[in-house]
Amino acid sequence: MNDGRLPGDPERYFEAHVFVCGNRRPDGHERGSCAAKGSEKLRDYMKARAKEMGLTGLRINAAGCLDRCEHGPAMVIYPSGIWYKVETTSDIDRVLEQHLRDGGRAEALLVR
Ligand code: FES
Repeated sequence: MNDGRLPGDPERYFEAHVFVCGNRRPDGHERGSCAAKGSEKLRDYMKARAKEMGLTGLRINAAGCLDRCEHGPAMVIYPSGIWYKVETTSDIDRVLEQHLRDGGRAEALLVR
């Protein structure tokens, strides 16, 4: 599958677009939720840290449920379509440095 872009499409507005699940379900829900696992604070940290690092062309957004709850706190980065499970601020640093700054992958955090 290609990336869906066609010849003549406008330039991408962002080089990378990060969606961080911020869904919260009631305590005890069988699927759990990313917000209950701390995703909102992790997203806020990521936004602040990306700014400190001077990363450009990047947008980090809150998202509703991304339907990968069992891998939460979940995030996905487009256009690469790579999913990560991020549980700590150190995990966020790894995604920022290894994927978004260096263009590689934070291998240990990949959701496969
Ligand atoms: S609650 Fe986060 S992916 Fe569903």
